[in-house]
Amino acid sequence: MAGARFLLLALLSINGAFSQVAEKLVQNPCISKTSCHECIQTPSCAWCYKQDFGERTRCFQPSNPGSMTCPEKYVINPDNQKRIVMNKPLSTVNAGGSFKANLGDGSSASSSGESNIIQVSPQRVNLKLRARQSLRFSLFYTQAEDYPVDLYYLMDLSKSMEDDKGKLSLLGNLLADSMKNITSNFRLGFGSFVDKVVMPYVSTVPKKLKAPCQDCEPPYGFKNHMTLDTDTSRFSTMVKAAAVSGNLDAPEGGFDAIMQAVVCRDQIGWREKARRLLVFSTDAGFHYAGDGKLGGIVKPNDGLCHLEKGLYTHSSLQDYPSISQINLKVKQNAINVIFAVTEEQISVYNKLKEHIEGASSGQLSNDSSNIVDLVKDQYQQISSLVELKDNATNAIKINYYSRCLNGSGSDKKTNKCGNIKVGDVVEFKIEIEVTACPKDPKDWKQTLQIYPVGINESLVVDLEMLCSCPCEQPGHIAFQKSADVCNMYGDYKCGICECDSSHFGRYCECSASEVDFFNNTLGCRADNTSSLDCSGRGSCVCGRCECNSRNNEDEKVYGNFCECDNFSCDRHEGKICSGPTHGSCDCGSCVCKEPWGGAACDCRMSNETCKAPGLADGEICSGHGDCKCGVCKCENTEEGRYSGKYCEKCPTCSDRCEEFKHCVQCQMYKTGPFDENVCAKNCTKFTPIGVEQVEAKEENDENLCAFYDDDDCRFAYVYYFDEFNKVVVKAQQDRECPAKVFLVGIVLGVIAAIVFIGLAILLLWKLLTTIHDRREFAKFEKERMMAKWDTGENPIYKQATSTFKNPTYAGKS
Ligand SMILES: *[C@@H]1O[C@H](CO)[C@@H](O)[C@H](O)[C@H]1NC(C)=O
Ligand SMILES: *[C@@H]1O[C@H](CO)[C@@H](O)[C@H](O)[C@H]1NC(C)=O
Ligand SMILES: *[C@@H]1O[C@H](CO)[C@@H](O)[C@H](O)[C@H]1NC(C)=O
Ligand SMILES: *[C@@H]1O[C@H](CO)[C@@H](O)[C@H](O)[C@H]1NC(C)=O
Ligand SMILES: *[C@@H]1O[C@H](CO)[C@@H](O)[C@H](O)[C@H]1NC(C)=O
Ligand SMILES: *[C@@H]1O[C@H](CO)[C@@H](O)[C@H](O)[C@H]1NC(C)=O
Ligand SMILES: *[C@@H]1O[C@H](CO)[C@@H](O)[C@H](O)[C@H]1NC(C)=O
Ligand SMILES: *[C@@H]1O[C@H](CO)[C@@H](O)[C@H](O)[C@H]1NC(C)=O
Ligand SMILES: *[C@@H]1O[C@H](CO)[C@@H](O)[C@H](O)[C@H]1NC(C)=O
Ligand SMILES: *[C@@H]1O[C@H](CO)[C@@H](O)[C@H](O)[C@H]1NC(C)=O
Repeated sequence: MAGARFLLLALLSINGAFSQVAEKLVQNPCISKTSCHECIQTPSCAWCYKQDFGERTRCFQPSNPGSMTCPEKYVINPDNQKRIVMNKPLSTVNAGGSFKANLGDGSSASSSGESNIIQVSPQRVNLKLRARQSLRFSLFYTQAEDYPVDLYYLMDLSKSMEDDKGKLSLLGNLLADSMKNITSNFRLGFGSFVDKVVMPYVSTVPKKLKAPCQDCEPPYGFKNHMTLDTDTSRFSTMVKAAAVSGNLDAPEGGFDAIMQAVVCRDQIGWREKARRLLVFSTDAGFHYAGDGKLGGIVKPNDGLCHLEKGLYTHSSLQDYPSISQINLKVKQNAINVIFAVTEEQISVYNKLKEHIEGASSGQLSNDSSNIVDLVKDQYQQISSLVELKDNATNAIKINYYSRCLNGSGSDKKTNKCGNIKVGDVVEFKIEIEVTACPKDPKDWKQTLQIYPVGINESLVVDLEMLCSCPCEQPGHIAFQKSADVCNMYGDYKCGICECDSSHFGRYCECSASEVDFFNNTLGCRADNTSSLDCSGRGSCVCGRCECNSRNNEDEKVYGNFCECDNFSCDRHEGKICSGPTHGSCDCGSCVCKEPWGGAACDCRMSNETCKAPGLADGEICSGHGDCKCGVCKCENTEEGRYSGKYCEKCPTCSDRCEEFKHCVQCQMYKTGPFDENVCAKNCTKFTPIGVEQVEAKEENDENLCAFYDDDDCRFAYVYYFDEFNKVVVKAQQDRECPAKVFLVGIVLGVIAAIVFIGLAILLLWKLLTTIHDRREFAKFEKERMMAKWDTGENPIYKQATSTFKNPTYAGKS
């Protein structure tokens, strides 16, 4: 268990190490950037445009001090810049109070006051931004006291709204009064709409056209009854005077009316600096773009003002506008649309308001009796909320942060703050970032607007994206058109060549036609399966590989795709291909010199060193082994085990004494079977050295041989192989021969001796017998003289009986 955990930890740490390595690789994004603009479009990278800079990458990380040594004056590393161009102070509550005094009579006075009201600060900034390096700055918003309000009441005057109209004319004054309670600088206007005067929206029967219903006026698209005016008392009169009309289908042409009311700035009388409210009151749905086809109107809405004498002239010429067209125009004109609709329609308009910037909706009672409260409430809601928007393009990202009115809290990411009262100042932190440099250099300078919704005030941002380097523009010292350095085929920019379309390479030295040759092999890749140019060990130049040089001078990378090197061959005893005397390394395999061979040139291929030198036949390993890499591998045979450098030794086998015997004999003693000629011819391998006494010395591997020759002389010699594998023979200087003997003498002597001994024996025998005979004769003579014949006993008498004793009889006696 513990082991498993240890293993797991080890694996984790290895994993960690890998990810660290990966991080390190990711950490320097600059290295891969090959042009100045690419480099500075990468955050934290800087470019060096020094002329003689070698092959080093020019794009580096200044934050990493060791990364690059470029003189300060050649470094291009622009920083984000912010310059506030216009920063009029916000109107304070007190300042607002002073306008109040100025107001009262006439619009001229009020307009001068209006233009002094500042609710957004600053008003204009210049920014220079590098891609993906964000910049933050603050924007302040305040709700000025007594800010002008323009309210245009747009009413559906179809028959069903008759009672509403009546109520509105009654409430008109109250509405004006309650708004005037909010701001002294209030204007009110009134318009109405029915629908396009085309079938099927409106009956075109002539009689119906004149009076679609009882007490009805002829139908119309949109009519501006009363331009915005401070004289609010006219409002009730105008509402009362407006007559209802009739139409056929349920939805009304309200979008036509909104469009005209929004875009006809002059006819409606919208002021430049005012909170603009457009109250849209209806009890029905709406037609929108495409519905015009029902009436045969296919021309799309152009979003322009077509009012003549207060009447919409293009009602039956143009289709209804789309929701997004309305949204666009509402946005451009900073108008807050308030949908005041009846209960049945409220759900539809609740959805609609989400698609229109700054729109809100409120529920209208059947007879519009709650209109005053509704407008007041909506206005309060609108004005107490600030929402920042911008018209930035995709290339620019703007984030808003604010803690709104919460003095102590931290910033939250929001572009909205609510519950703002007059005089409150809200700070927004704006974080602006160029996400990517647009392709078209024209888009590198942009003007964008950051504005609070529904207010014609904004912060204008003049944004310049730092997407290119000054040295890439004509006029800079590091810019040269058709430069010599670039072989006249390209422009010299920021220290590098930018080649024309038909040339490439570091100095535009490659022409496109040269590539064709390598086209089919993709130039720098061995085949379509490899994903690395030049095997990852070189750079692709002109469709050919320029292989990297190695730190170690003894190592070289080469080949069409840098696929070869001369250092990854087999080694023997640590030396590549056994060292330069044996062979060299070529593209992964050893090229051996004579007589070497084998994977690492460690094997001697010739059999010369396996032949015992000085032998006539020169048998490899004395015929008792195989020559492997110049060394004998001796065999084991029945005769015995061979050993020795040339498998010449075999303690249990016969040695080579026999082989050398005759030569030693003839050379040393001039004896033996070889006569002088043969000896001179055949005995060339050695010349025996004469010594007093032969001894076999162990240290020389000497072999002792001793023979008796025909003369019965013993001769002895030793042989061994010296350091040059030459056989050396040391022979006894003189043979040991036996002394010469006289053979006939010996034979005669022997015979004589035998004869002499035989005679001597005979004589001796004769002497002894003679002595014996004499003694017997003497004895006879003596007895004959003493003889007196005995009568009693006849010496020749013999008893008649003979007694014998049986030797085997064992008697009982
Ligand atoms: C205007 O405000 C005053 C005091 O704030 C209030 O008495 C009056 O009723 C208000 N008028 C309207 C029309 O709401
Ligand atoms: C907003 O105000 C500016 C002047 O500050 C004016 O030029 C512009 O026309 C106004 N825009 C609208 C939609 O009224
Ligand atoms: C409003 O109309 C609805 C149905 O259309 C009706 O139920 C309701 O009584 C009406 N209310 C008023 C105040 O007329
Ligand atoms: C203000 O911010 C603090 C801390 O972020 C938070 O706890 C508090 O609820 C906030 N108050 C308001 C009124 O938003
Ligand atoms: C944003 O609006 C301003 C003012 O209307 C305009 O000058 C600018 O071109 C707009 N910018 C973009 C990116 O649409
Ligand atoms: C490569 O060869 C093909 C056909 O042979 C040719 O169409 C193409 O233009 C060549 N590409 C280049 C870069 O020369
Ligand atoms: C590589 O080229 C061969 C022949 O040109 C083709 O058959 C093969 O599909 C190619 N492989 C890849 C990965 O493109
Ligand atoms: C590899 O090539 C270099 C340059 O030709 C040479 O100096 C070096 O001796 C070579 N190394 C081997 C092991 O062959
Ligand atoms: C060396 O001897 C071996 C047998 O021991 C033989 O196979 C080989 O061909 C010989 N090589 C040469 C170059 O004579
Ligand atoms: C001497 O050597 C030759 C070849 O060199 C050989 O033919 C001859 O038999 C040899 N003589 C003797 C006596 O061995």
